[in-house]
Amino acid sequence: MLPGKRILLIISGGIAAYKSLDLIRRLRERGATVRCVMTDSATQFITPLSVSALSENKVYGDLFSLTDEAEMGHIQLSRDADLVLVAPATTNILAKMAQGISDDLATTVLLATDKDVIAAPAMNVRMWEHAATRDNVSTLKSRGVLFAGPTEGDMACGEYGEGRMIEPLEIVTEIEHYFSAAAPLAGRRAIVTSGPTHEAIDPVRYVANRSSGKQGHAIAAALAGMGAETILVTGPTAEANPAGVKIVRIESAREMHDAATGALPADIAVCAAAVADWRPAEILEGKIKKTKGGAPPCLDMVENPDILRSLSAAGNQRPALVVGFAAETDNVLANATAKRERKGCDWIVANDVSPDTGTFGGDRNTVHLITADSTDDWPAMAKSDVAERLAEHIATHFANLREAAE
Ligand code: CTP
Repeated sequence: MLPGKRILLIISGGIAAYKSLDLIRRLRERGATVRCVMTDSATQFITPLSVSALSENKVYGDLFSLTDEAEMGHIQLSRDADLVLVAPATTNILAKMAQGISDDLATTVLLATDKDVIAAPAMNVRMWEHAATRDNVSTLKSRGVLFAGPTEGDMACGEYGEGRMIEPLEIVTEIEHYFSAAAPLAGRRAIVTSGPTHEAIDPVRYVANRSSGKQGHAIAAALAGMGAETILVTGPTAEANPAGVKIVRIESAREMHDAATGALPADIAVCAAAVADWRPAEILEGKIKKTKGGAPPCLDMVENPDILRSLSAAGNQRPALVVGFAAETDNVLANATAKRERKGCDWIVANDVSPDTGTFGGDRNTVHLITADSTDDWPAMAKSDVAERLAEHIATHFANLREAAE
């Protein structure tokens, strides 16, 4: 899976370019965003329209396009990518890369990028075996360019030998390996709770709250993006499933409790759900009816299990890092600090959810990260940025733990 990964795909002009169309689909199915640059000769094999339709992105090709430079710019194209992939990589583009020639947008991006580059060569066997290509490939390898293939097989030109581009799914696997080796939370398992819970009153009514699930879902996506095996236990929300995350849908707090504790053991738990504190003491089997002149029903409530507290007290199954949220409307820092101790978690992300902050249901959040020995005030930012920053803190925490153990 490649959730949230941004791939800049450079398509150069060879017959294998038709496979790039499938490659774009396969990358996107795994949650990656794909932006494409085509060389002039690539457009002789496949059309920018197909590439744009499959990538659902603008296709770039002209180094001197005023609009492209104003909108994005060739430097920005690589800056906005996590990885540059050249597929197919013809002998011509490999030669230009080795020599540092930058006479079109594709080669200029390749010269300007500071991101890792994976090349998937595709050419005739004699071109692949030519001394010039051998030299160029070893120069590029010595500079850190990674190679995916080529492989041996029948060629479009009727010959047989090494030089065929490897299949799109094999390229995807190479990319997945590249990211999982580099992923800071690879090998870690995370449980995230998100959204509201619905507490049934009768078959048609329930008690709920205004949580949208945006923050919790973004955290699950960010952790998965850093390589953690992530389980998202979510109440009813309109949020899309984050890519690369295992989703467990529940309705009530008790179901969320069972799903979250049932997902143990884990290394990380982040409780971002707005769990209903109470539920009706009994769920009526039939719909409560109005009786003429009768008094409104009175709901008898009982307390729900506390998921954060249970995960924090899970004995030898306790995750190494348990993070809670504190939704507060008054004395945000003092209440959240006390809540961290009361719940037994390691960190608390405190947020002010007073109506005028627009936090509940909104896209932005202003939070404070409270640990046992520090309080860090973060500026107002998008919930997706809060998620990324929290995931980075979590990754640093585990990197420090590993360093201390060594
Ligand atoms: N939480 C939980 N299970 C509950 C209640 C809360 O896991 N039954 C978690 C939330 O997901 C959050 C943290 O506990 O991470 C704090 O939630 P919050 O609503 O701020 O606190 P409460 O425990 O409900 O306390 P209060 O309503 O008194 O502020």
